[in-house]
Amino acid sequence: MCGIVGYVGKRDCSKVLIESLSKLEYRGYDSAGIAVFEDGEIKTCKARGELANLVSKLNNEGGIKGNCGIGHTRWATHGEPSDINSHPHGNANVTIVHNGIIENYKSIKTRLEGKGYVFQSQTDTETVAKLLDYYYKGDPVEAIRKTESKIEGSYALGIIFRDFPDTVFALRKDSPLIVAVGEDEAFIASDVPAILRYTKDYYLLEVGELATLKDGKVSFTNLDGEPIEKTMLTANWDEEAAEKGGYEHYMLKEIHEQPTAIRTTITPRITDGMPNLEECGITEDMLRNYKNIFVVACGTAMHAGLVGKYVIEKIGRIPVTVDVASEFRYRHPIITKEDLVVLVSQSGETADTKEALRLAKKKGAATLAIVNVKGSSIAREADHVIYTHAGPEIAVASTKAYMVQLAVMYLFAFELAHAKGTLSEEECKRLTAELCEIPKAIESVLSQKDNCQYVASQLVNSENLLYIGRGLDYALSMEGSLKLKEISYIHSESYAAGELKHGTISLVTELMPVIAVATQRELFDKTVSNVKEVKARGAKTYLVTHSYIRVDDDVADYTIGVPTVDDLLMPMLAVVPLQLIAYYTSVLRGNNVDKPRNLAKSVTVE
Ligand code: AGP
Repeated sequence: MCGIVGYVGKRDCSKVLIESLSKLEYRGYDSAGIAVFEDGEIKTCKARGELANLVSKLNNEGGIKGNCGIGHTRWATHGEPSDINSHPHGNANVTIVHNGIIENYKSIKTRLEGKGYVFQSQTDTETVAKLLDYYYKGDPVEAIRKTESKIEGSYALGIIFRDFPDTVFALRKDSPLIVAVGEDEAFIASDVPAILRYTKDYYLLEVGELATLKDGKVSFTNLDGEPIEKTMLTANWDEEAAEKGGYEHYMLKEIHEQPTAIRTTITPRITDGMPNLEECGITEDMLRNYKNIFVVACGTAMHAGLVGKYVIEKIGRIPVTVDVASEFRYRHPIITKEDLVVLVSQSGETADTKEALRLAKKKGAATLAIVNVKGSSIAREADHVIYTHAGPEIAVASTKAYMVQLAVMYLFAFELAHAKGTLSEEECKRLTAELCEIPKAIESVLSQKDNCQYVASQLVNSENLLYIGRGLDYALSMEGSLKLKEISYIHSESYAAGELKHGTISLVTELMPVIAVATQRELFDKTVSNVKEVKARGAKTYLVTHSYIRVDDDVADYTIGVPTVDDLLMPMLAVVPLQLIAYYTSVLRGNNVDKPRNLAKSVTVE
């Protein structure tokens, strides 16, 4: 999704904007641009494609020299990726960058065209720039206030006016924006990594607040110009944590960070060997009383919910429904005040998940967010939040965020089951102790990267692939399959192994490799039968199972073994080879692993 930056200070503004935008590349984009004051005039440069294109265009045009400006990486929603559709948008008087979607842009555009305005781009954003110009009569705050009252949808906006050549204005609704302060300098950005090189101190801009960055300082008012006092936050990530740290790709780095991420996430939530979510406002009394649980999320986060469903239902004996957020919103779900709706999201800004949260609140259900980004919209709007402490996840393909979402799901399930009396204290302690051992076990799986590289080398020329498993292994295969397709661009599907015979097995030939996950021992023989069925039809088969298990050649062409823990916890180990297989396949195919085509890290539009 789009990234916004802005700078006011003494440094070379173009350089700061480009550097900051480079830290937002992970969000996904297809063009970039900056607008900087040079000798009192707004100078704009924009280019389709990678930031490098913008940099060379800037260099060819002699650069823009100034100390105040705004920048943007665009992920196209209205109009194709092109120089003209890239941000910033505006004219010599007022220029803006925008993240989000203006829902009523067509009616505003028609109105402004009637007043003589001519539009150059196909974007919704240009209507906001022109509307600001229309309302501007010398008072920028008044123009912003009037514009804000007319636009509908989601937005984070960075705005500059020619008459105020040392000032950046910013406001937001439903799209994230932070305002950071350094020594005699101030910044706006869509996310914290953009400013870490310069400062760690920042504010979260709230809806209805206007930030004014001037003379290296920042002030906050409401849209009537009345001052607002805000609390400053300090990022606990350093720049290095947001860099690759010697790994070839962020994704590989993040896969290797999983043991640490789990430890950081679970350790503060365990007291005397028992899960304890009190710091997140969750008590056993509350957990005892829910009638139904809904887990609502998108993509990988939804897959973490599928594992959660198995675990919660098995040990907590309470019905759990897992929904894709974009479906949940519109399917008129039957939820009541006695239910709990759990929203899972790495970014905490996913538009569909956020709207699902709002719907659940409207229906009176209790809401719990499992979120990685501190202070994000979903975290702030939910009744309770359990932060996952994965640190910044930069690769578009989510790995460590999924892992800590699982870790939280387990802690939650253990505490809930104990509260409901379906899990004894002794069992709860045993499972919690096993959870604490998972990081070490993952380290040993990570040391087997050669096996995963070998499997990747066998898959690299495939066009289609199947993942199969039963129970928790099926839930987990869904994530393995998504990981492979999003970064290798190989078509893959995940199937419940027992369901193959009901149609899909007709696709199986020697051209359809099958990755089977069989870690659930009570289902092992049944999964193995299904693997034999596909092997008998010519498929090459790759099996992920416990390392102590040996299978015959008529089952698997290649086996990857993972250490044994309680079967309930096996997904946390079995997912690692699937992540590595996806990673190495993508590398072998020469793809852009961290920024796969057409994808954005944070999907802040519907
Ligand atoms: C994961 O690899 C994907 N890039 C994607 O499915 C992601 O998990 C989904 O968009 C949800 O994002 P969120 O966790 O930030 O809400």
